Amino acid sequence: MKQSRIIGTGSCLPERILTNAELEQTLDTNDEWIVTRTGIRERRIAAEGQYTSDLAGGAARQALAMAGLEAADIDLILVATVTGDLSWPATACLVQDQLQATRAAAFDISAACSGFLYALSTADSFLRAGTARRALVIGAEIFSRIVDWQDRSTCILFGDGAGAVVLEMGEGAGQLLGCHLHSDGSQWPLLYQLGYGSRNPAGDQSRNPEHPFIRMQGNEVFKVAVRSLSEVALEALEAQSLTVADVDLLVPHQANQRILEATAKRLGLPPEKVMINVDRYGNTSAASIPIALDEAHRSGRLQPGHLVLLNAFGGGFTWGAALVRW
Ligand code: ACO
Repeated sequence: MKQSRIIGTGSCLPERILTNAELEQTLDTNDEWIVTRTGIRERRIAAEGQYTSDLAGGAARQALAMAGLEAADIDLILVATVTGDLSWPATACLVQDQLQATRAAAFDISAACSGFLYALSTADSFLRAGTARRALVIGAEIFSRIVDWQDRSTCILFGDGAGAVVLEMGEGAGQLLGCHLHSDGSQWPLLYQLGYGSRNPAGDQSRNPEHPFIRMQGNEVFKVAVRSLSEVALEALEAQSLTVADVDLLVPHQANQRILEATAKRLGLPPEKVMINVDRYGNTSAASIPIALDEAHRSGRLQPGHLVLLNAFGGGFTWGAALVRW
């Protein structure tokens, strides 16, 4: 049966590594606190002059190479990001230009840390509708430029990076079995960045009493995230008449280790079935799932026939899950 298939994966991480020990030099924090509360040991930081579209393009080129395709073979480019190069136009358009993907439509998806799953589901709908045959689905973020480096409760969590998959309609391995998405906009004040927009007109400093960085009530986010992530994972499995026992690998959004462990525990998944790289990259928001998927794929952790569960939770609130038969 023809379905959307993942036929290539790629990732792109900045070279610069920022360790917890370095953060100790500038913040009232320490490695032990950060590792115990989050599992994060280091994160990557984009270089000056390196933009979200550069990381997105790097990940896309790797995914295209694995798929054995040229950029001109792509009909659709979706970039999941909340830290794009500009407010607009879309970072996806900059990637389209960078790759010279001359046949592709391009737009961004804004669903914070759930963005990659929202983009995957959107691309799947285009492919099923026949409006596109091959899509590049990219998650790319440079959170290091929207965190307050004086705020120890947020800046330690995030990192920069990008991941990508090529989705093609056809038969064979890598089948996307289903995507399940949810949102609860009433919770937005628990996690957001003000930025410029209709609530905060550009150039009107008198109407901008808040600082411009990411704002988060971590405790509240934690509780809702764990519950939502496990519920949507079960929803995705039940829709395919599958159970947790059928899952070979959970590739979750890498929020922090405690969220990942608590979710796995609620689901009854053993630790060896959970892909974790948050210790090395921190929370890269919409980029984290495709980065982790690429790493799992290239390291041989994913084998043909494996059932792969993806799930994510983020600002909005938004959350979702997807199942892939590798
Ligand atoms: N170093 C040392 N102490 C710190 C630090 C730090 N970096 N940050 C906060 N503290 C202090 C606080 O000031 C507080 O001190 P106090 O008791 O004297 O007031 C104490 O540590 C406890 O603070 P809490 O915020 O209660 O710590 P908590 O155990 O909740 O851990 C954390 C904070 C890690 C942010 C946690 O709430 C969390 O992981 N939440 C999820 C948030 C998240 O993942 N957001 C990402 C976006 S959404 C997503 O991806 C799912």
